[in-house]
Amino acid sequence: MNRIITILLAGFETSLPIGTISIAVLAIFLSYFVWHQYGCPRISCINSYAGDWSRKRARQAFLERGQQLLAEGAKRYGDEPFRIITTLGERIILPKSCIHWVEGHSDLDHQAQVAEEFMGAYPGFEGIGAFNDPNRFVIDLVKKKMSSLTAPMLSTFYEEAIAVLDEEFGDSNEFRRIDWAVICSRLTSRISAAIFAGGILAKDPRWQNVTQTYTSNLFQACRALRAWPAPLRPIVVWYLKECKVCRDQIAEARKILAEHQFGTAERDTAFTWMDPRADPVIVQLALAAGALHTTSQLLNQALLDLAYAASDGQSVVDQLQKEFGTCLEASGGKILPSTLPKMNIMEACIKETQRLKPQTLTNLDRLALKAVVLPNGVRVPKGTMISVNQATMWDADTWGEDALVWDPMRWFEPGTTELGRERLVNSSDRHFAFGKGRFICPGRLLVNGELKVALGVILDGWEVRLCKEDYEEAKKKGRGRVDWVPFGFEMLADGRAGVEVRRR
Ligand code: HEM
Ligand SMILES: *[C@@H]1O[C@H](CO)[C@@H](O)[C@H](O)[C@H]1NC(C)=O
Ligand SMILES: *[C@@H]1O[C@H](CO)[C@@H](O)[C@H](O)[C@H]1NC(C)=O
Repeated sequence: MNRIITILLAGFETSLPIGTISIAVLAIFLSYFVWHQYGCPRISCINSYAGDWSRKRARQAFLERGQQLLAEGAKRYGDEPFRIITTLGERIILPKSCIHWVEGHSDLDHQAQVAEEFMGAYPGFEGIGAFNDPNRFVIDLVKKKMSSLTAPMLSTFYEEAIAVLDEEFGDSNEFRRIDWAVICSRLTSRISAAIFAGGILAKDPRWQNVTQTYTSNLFQACRALRAWPAPLRPIVVWYLKECKVCRDQIAEARKILAEHQFGTAERDTAFTWMDPRADPVIVQLALAAGALHTTSQLLNQALLDLAYAASDGQSVVDQLQKEFGTCLEASGGKILPSTLPKMNIMEACIKETQRLKPQTLTNLDRLALKAVVLPNGVRVPKGTMISVNQATMWDADTWGEDALVWDPMRWFEPGTTELGRERLVNSSDRHFAFGKGRFICPGRLLVNGELKVALGVILDGWEVRLCKEDYEEAKKKGRGRVDWVPFGFEMLADGRAGVEVRRR
């Protein structure tokens, strides 16, 4: 096999029986396509088009119109499941009425889904593969050590956030435009690294570079590898440059750690909390892959929503500033574990931001470990990918006429005490951005702490607003916020939105 691929890549310059080889390769291709095309014939597909053998059109439609396809599917099939072709294969989309069925099904697995979809078994992809490790080193680390935040962790966040923001936002008394998207990933990465890897590595540009870019490199490598038929992937993985980048990054991370003088800076970090049998490099990259992009995306949109509110002259930013001040005063200038639940308005704002941009249009992604019978009676084979449509988080049936408008006060509505009790870390049938059931995101308590601290420090130290054109453009759309940008099922904060800051 190794020779075949070398030949393929070298352009067939060889004396081997090319005919035989070509036929073998063609057979592999064909069986792969047939299996995929007709894998689940009894469930309708929302983006299959006549003559679209290579699925190019289907993938294009998915990337450009993911949300419309999901809406179309929900409208056309109602309470029935439907299929959608994605850039990473194919999924069955279930309606919201199936949430509990998915949540409770013992043959539907999240970790296996992640490993399968993101090629966790291949060299260079170990940072994702770690989520499916039977030893559960990463999941248990997050569950046991990062899901109740201690006073030292919070003060680390607080100090690190102040240090980064003083540097990035500056001291100018005039409003000036900042590159919020870049600063936001840097800020998230620095505060997270402070407890993942300790203060010294958090500030090390080489370490920051590897941990910040590994995830996006991994996604690119996934797409490159996915373009090849499954039977050839174990070989082409060694030749694709996108995959080599990931292997090189793991090697680079290993080198940085081998040269690093471990000392007191790493005392209360993932290095000391992780199982001694775990590979520290892989655990660190897994933490980076699971935590940085997701948290930074939420923080990014949360500040955009507040900047819009400020430009719009809403009182919520004032209220947040007062709330943060009062909380700090009550705890002697510190942020303590008991401070977090007192930041009620902040909580409502973040929860509302996440309601409208939960990161992905679908959730509860699962892989069928065995053949399973869907709630509508159709049996799907082992290996099927299943997700639940997340549109319920912004549908008018659930939220009323203003469902698409950012309004944090809906979490305080008198009478709807149930909504009032639902915190950022909680999950419900109408808001399940962190997933549900046994796989619910164990990092959500960390997110709760990091976001409240980061946003608190920002609003306490700076006035923030949108630049005039972006505010006016968003205002015209009438949704009280800067719209996110679609990429397949991903909902990305608009990296071009102009944010302006000045010292308070
Ligand atoms: C806003 C940020 C985040 C979002 C939106 C998010 C979302 C999710 C979702 C939807 C799941 C799957 C749940 C399910 O299917 O039921 C998940 C799982 C997971 N998340 Fe997060 N996450 C975030 C931040 C984090 C952070 C900061 C960490 C680590 C420190 C983390 C670690 C994990 C782990 C380890 C799992 C796998 C849990 C398991 O399979 O048992 N996440 N996350
Ligand atoms: C990270 O390093 C790579 C290669 O050394 C470089 O091209 C890239 O610009 C760096 N990225 C960041 C965010 O520092
Ligand atoms: C919200 O989550 C917290 C932490 O897991 C839990 O203690 C609390 O009971 C939950 N509240 C609701 C209303 O579900």
